[in-house]
Amino acid sequence: MKPIQVGLMGLGTVGSGVFHVLTRNQTEIQRRAGRGIELAQVSRRNLAAAREIVGDAVQIVADAREIVANPDIDIVVELIGGTGIARELVLEAIAAGKHVVTANKALLAVHGTEIFAAASAKGVVVAFEAAVAGGIPIIKALREGLTANRIEWIAGIINGTTNFILSEMRDKGLDFDVVLKEAQRLGYAEADPTFDIEGVDAAHKATIMSAIAFGVPVQFDKAHVEGITQLSAIDIRYAEQLGYRIKLLGITKKRDAGIELRVHPTLIPSKRLIANVEGAMNAVVVQGDAVGTTLYYGKGAGSEPTASAVVADLVDITRLHTADPEHRVPHLAFRADALADTPI
Ligand code: HSE
Repeated sequence: MKPIQVGLMGLGTVGSGVFHVLTRNQTEIQRRAGRGIELAQVSRRNLAAAREIVGDAVQIVADAREIVANPDIDIVVELIGGTGIARELVLEAIAAGKHVVTANKALLAVHGTEIFAAASAKGVVVAFEAAVAGGIPIIKALREGLTANRIEWIAGIINGTTNFILSEMRDKGLDFDVVLKEAQRLGYAEADPTFDIEGVDAAHKATIMSAIAFGVPVQFDKAHVEGITQLSAIDIRYAEQLGYRIKLLGITKKRDAGIELRVHPTLIPSKRLIANVEGAMNAVVVQGDAVGTTLYYGKGAGSEPTASAVVADLVDITRLHTADPEHRVPHLAFRADALADTPI
C-alpha cells in the first residue's frame, strides 16, 4: 500500500524533530501504523534553512498554502503556531478533507470549538497530543486510559519554561532574565515568551484538558490566569524555609456550580512528588473517581519530545484512515455535538 502522505507546515524546532523521528524510527513506525508514513512536503519561508534539515529527501515549499492545496496530502501537520494564519490553514485543510495534527495549544484553546465542529462535519480527525505537556501522552490518558472515570480534578506543571526558570532561580540563585534567555536558547519558550511567564501558555493547555475531562467547550476566556512575573528570588527562598516549593500550576476541577479553570503560582509542600519536578519537565496529576490519583511525568517541551507526540498522532490517524471508513472510531477528534453547556 502506498505510504500515507504527510505535509508539514512550519519546519522549526518541533518540525525538525518530526523529520528526524520519522526517519530514524521508520521501521517501527511503519509496523505499528500498518502502513508507511511519508513526509512528502514541508514548508518554511527560508528554503535554504529547510534544506539543511531535510536534505533532498522531502519537497520544500515556501508557502504553507501549497501543502493545503496539494491533493496528494492526506494529513497536514500544523506547526506554525499562533491563532491567525494557522487557523485559516487548518480550516482550509479540514475543508479539503485532510486530517490535521497540531501542537498549537493557543489555536485549540481559542478556536477549538469552531475547528472541532468543522472536523466533525467533514469526518476528519484533528489530533493534538503535542499541544499539552509535550511528550507526555496526557490526552490519550484522559481520553482512553481514564475513560471509565469521572474526572474530579487535574493539576499540572504544564509549562516547561516557567518550571525551568523557577528551578534555576531556586537552585543557582540566577536572575529571572538570565534563565528566560537560556530557556529561549534551548527551544522551550514560545515565540512570544510573555505567553510562558504570564501563565497564558499553561492556561491554553489547562483549557484543553478541562474540555476533554469535563466535556465542556474550550473556553480559554473563562480561565483565571496569573504568571510568575510577580515572583522574586526572596519569595522562592521564604517558601523553601517554610517547607514549600513554588510551582506554576494549571488546575481544573469539577464543582457543583460548574468547572474551575485557573493558572497561578502555588505553594506545594516540598515532600510532594510534584514539588520535585525540576527543569523543563512537566507533570500532570489526574484524580479519577475509580482509579484514584494518577501522575504523568516527562518532557513538556523541546524538539523530539514534542515530535514524539506529533508522530504518535500520525500513527493513530494512519491506522484510522486505513481502516474501513464504516468502522472508524473518531476517538481522537473532539465531537462538537458531545460538548455540554456547563458553565466555567
Ligand atoms: N513554551 C512551552 C513550554 C512549550 O515552555 O512548556 C511547550 O508547549
